Amino acid sequence: MYRMALIVLLAMLFMPAPAPAGDLAALAAGCDDCHGPNGQSTHADVPIIAGQSERLIGKALDQFADYWRPCSKTAYRHGDTGRPETSMCEISAALSAEDRQALSAHYASQPFVPAVQAFDEAKAVTGAGLYGMYCATCHPAGGAEIGYAGRLAGQWQAYLRTSIAQIAAGEWMVPKPMERKMSSLSEEEIDALVNYFASHQD
Ligand code: HEC
Ligand code: HEC
Repeated sequence: MYRMALIVLLAMLFMPAPAPAGDLAALAAGCDDCHGPNGQSTHADVPIIAGQSERLIGKALDQFADYWRPCSKTAYRHGDTGRPETSMCEISAALSAEDRQALSAHYASQPFVPAVQAFDEAKAVTGAGLYGMYCATCHPAGGAEIGYAGRLAGQWQAYLRTSIAQIAAGEWMVPKPMERKMSSLSEEEIDALVNYFASHQD
């Protein structure tokens, strides 16, 4: 009996301590090195995550961690830019569920500032019509409302283009009705839609 207790005690002593919860500020600083100060990205291929829906950020991190959403090798944009390239899948897989949750809440609470970017006025008008027909029910207020599906208005065009192409190709786990709509859109229609979302600059 006594021996058993001793073995248990010894086993407990040598058990690795549970990983400490990451220091949120330090973790977020690592994210900001690509996503910009407080998640306000200044690079067109990196999405603004400031003020994005907490649900969407959390879901994205979970999906990247499980490789349910495509991720590309990408370089650090700020701080020590000599660090080796990494990807959202590698980054997310290394985070605990608690850290993903804490980071989602952190970025959702940051102010969102629409990207200042060039867009084509005529395409944006066409895009507004397409948006009304195909996207408005789930992405309300011109895609500016966070709602259930997350914000699209004011996001970087280049990032939206890549995302839409991946969704249309069935590479992300997204609501099926959206995937079907995306895959039925022509290249011109997608071009018009992203110009429409880019036209929201205030
Ligand atoms: C080395 C650069 C880099 C770092 C560091 C980085 N990201 Fe990303 N992140 C990206 C890129 C690029 C994308 C666009 C998707 C892709 O290409 O994989 C992205 C996409 C995302 C998305 C999807 C947004 C959306 O609208 O769906 C979220 C959420 C996200 N990152 C959160 C984070 C968090 C949280 C951290 C820190 C733990 C982080 N990222 C660190 C480059 C980075
Ligand atoms: C049936 C509802 C629905 C419709 C219709 C819909 N979406 Fe979505 N969309 C969503 C949801 C929900 C998400 C969040 C991702 C998730 O939950 O998987 C999303 C996410 C997205 C994303 C990824 C955002 C990001 O940064 O992660 C893009 C881009 C997008 N939608 C564009 C569109 C466009 C463009 C249209 C119209 C052609 C459209 N959606 C129509 C429900 C919809």
